[in-house]
Amino acid sequence: MKLNAGILVVLAALAAATLAPTASAEELDGKTLFTETHKCNMCHAVPAAEIEAKTTSEKMKGSDLGGKVEVDFKTLAAYVRKAGELDGESHKKEFKGTDEELQAIIDWLGSLEAQE
Ligand code: HEC
Repeated sequence: MKLNAGILVVLAALAAATLAPTASAEELDGKTLFTETHKCNMCHAVPAAEIEAKTTSEKMKGSDLGGKVEVDFKTLAAYVRKAGELDGESHKKEFKGTDEELQAIIDWLGSLEAQE
């Protein structure tokens, strides 16, 4: 009996550790942030997640996303916040979310299979 109770305590501790909020990018849902919170899918399709770009304007449209984001976080964060450029261009829309949200979006994109 004693042993079983011990195991239960360990299991409970493990469950608590798994469920406890850590206030990090991991607990944020990158897909929801992408499609609903920040509406990145206005302009970007994510073929691997069957998300289409909403805009029909070729001028607004960004490249298809999905797969590992090659740009380093600092550069990308500055770029999407319109505080920096990428290949001499600034982003079409200013990202107003937090670093954690951007990281969660990048993590979600990175979890997808890049499609050619
Ligand atoms: C108003 C249209 C628009 C919106 C909204 C938008 N983007 Fe973009 N984005 C673009 C355009 C245009 C480019 C430049 C062309 C390109 O490289 O995709 C771009 C470029 C990018 C790039 C660089 C792609 C690369 O490989 O060089 C990333 C990453 C990116 N956007 C992420 C996002 C994220 C994340 C969001 C939502 C927070 C977002 N974009 C919202 C239009 C948009």
